[in-house]
Amino acid sequence: MNKTCSLRRLCNLHEHLMKQHRVIRYESNTSNDLNSFVLYDKFICERRSQSKCSVLVQVSSENSCSDLHSYCSKFGSIKNIFHYQLAGSNHFVLTEFEDQSSVNSLLDQSTHIKDSNVIAVRSPFLWFRSNASKKNSKLSIVDNKFNFPFQANQTMIEPNIKDIELNQLDSLSNQMLLLLKRTQLNDIGTRLRFLTAMQIENALKGIFPLSRVLPFGSSVNSFGKIGSDIDLVIMDSQTTENETSRLIYHGKCVSNGRTQTQRNIEILGDLLQLFLPGCSRVKRITQARVPIVKYSQDFVGVECDLAVSNETAVNMSELLYIFGNFDYRVRPLVFTVKMWAKEINLTNDTPGRWITNFSLTLLVLFYLQQEKIIPDIQTLVKQARNNDVRITNEGINCTFLRDASKLPRVVENKKTLDQLLLGFFEYFASFDFNTNAISLNFGKTINKPEYSALYIVNPLEVHFNVSKNISSEEVERFRIELRNAAWTIDSSLMNTNSFNLLDLFKGFDVNKKSQIVFEIQHQIKNSNRLVTVKDLFDDDSQPQEDTRLNKQLK
Ligand code: GTP
Ligand code: MG
Repeated sequence: MNKTCSLRRLCNLHEHLMKQHRVIRYESNTSNDLNSFVLYDKFICERRSQSKCSVLVQVSSENSCSDLHSYCSKFGSIKNIFHYQLAGSNHFVLTEFEDQSSVNSLLDQSTHIKDSNVIAVRSPFLWFRSNASKKNSKLSIVDNKFNFPFQANQTMIEPNIKDIELNQLDSLSNQMLLLLKRTQLNDIGTRLRFLTAMQIENALKGIFPLSRVLPFGSSVNSFGKIGSDIDLVIMDSQTTENETSRLIYHGKCVSNGRTQTQRNIEILGDLLQLFLPGCSRVKRITQARVPIVKYSQDFVGVECDLAVSNETAVNMSELLYIFGNFDYRVRPLVFTVKMWAKEINLTNDTPGRWITNFSLTLLVLFYLQQEKIIPDIQTLVKQARNNDVRITNEGINCTFLRDASKLPRVVENKKTLDQLLLGFFEYFASFDFNTNAISLNFGKTINKPEYSALYIVNPLEVHFNVSKNISSEEVERFRIELRNAAWTIDSSLMNTNSFNLLDLFKGFDVNKKSQIVFEIQHQIKNSNRLVTVKDLFDDDSQPQEDTRLNKQLK
């Protein structure tokens, strides 16, 4: 396939549609994305303060909202109130007060139902009992008569991809932006994630007053979807040692750090299972590289992973957050690639020998570094200021420029999203995974330091490979799907001059002759030798095991 040709076709198509005035233009924020950049620490701090001023109340239906509002107003001024319903038809109202003292007095006034089997717990999760003596004022949301800032249009349920009206939009770029808009983590989702963290923090406060529980991963790195899991970590607040104090707390001396972490996970698992409301299906995963407690927070309707200490992952979230906010094209491209991988089963919710969302995100970022749309990490490290220096307790250097708006832009890349999507597929379809490792630190490939089917240098711990788990079969499947995706976009544009994103999510069809021909062309282009159909599904360098694709072919 001729890369310049396909890009030209996309440009022509774009122009053609713009002329017809049929295109809804979402791409308003195409320059100066960093002018409104909010520092990660500020974002985290604001969301934490918001969660300290909030309570989540289960109600019998949305008709109770008005009643709940007037009841809660007794404790202080209400800033925001959100209603949502989970799949199990439970209704919840998230109420944010102007002041944390209002939450404290509300909790002081709330009561426990007497039950000898339950130890009373104070938490921001409550339920609202109906007032038998007073008839419920049936003010509905549709009446729009609330005199408070009521937010009812945000969902906690991830939309089905087929329900997003992607085919209403002709331009692939706009479809990508719509996909982002409809599936990205919304305000209420973010609030509930921070409240989920605050529940654990409050529960530990008595014995560990310096501990903070922070969300990390896609909940905060700007790449989160409505249904993504919540990754949480318990960390000590950064306190500077008071060298003038002569009184020092006694501490427990621990000889084996990993054993201690595993025991902490056991204890936390018990705490969540026995005492904390809404926490169910608690599993203690103590043998993992990073031991975690997995549980489900039923009031929020999401799965959670709680780690005891993973400071590097928090810094990694900040690094990804900076890239996600660097340019308006980064997030829609990452979302589309992640959705593509999910729909064609390249990724899977359970961990295994397949590619993860985290690795995929890094691949997209690496491609955008090739396009000079985002900088390499070394540049961020070189530009770091004194207050950017961070060394974790484990001694890992996580120093890089935090305020990305201070970074001068050198190259202007004006490529549109559709061009970048096709570019991503083409770039990795012909990528030599056998010899090359991907380094976002240098923004270029380096020789693989050791054998792994896919090698992505961990940006913060450069001696590790973040995609070590991926088998050679899965890399081969990934490569075939990349070629197929490039072929699907390219052939569709050639034939119809338009493209529906949903067509991308169908995956490789081994029965399609034209796709096989395309595969052969690709192989010939890359290897300069005669290729048989069998070659298409064999890796030159490694003996192939029984792949899923081979099974399908047989
Ligand atoms: P989704 O949950 O799939 O939306 O994405 P996520 O980025 O949150 O991924 P995940 O929940 O699997 O992991 C949470 C965070 O842990 C990631 O954002 C990374 O910072 C970190 N992480 C995940 N996998 C790895 C890995 O293989 N190596 C390292 N070093 N960190 C990882
Ligand atoms: Mg996650």
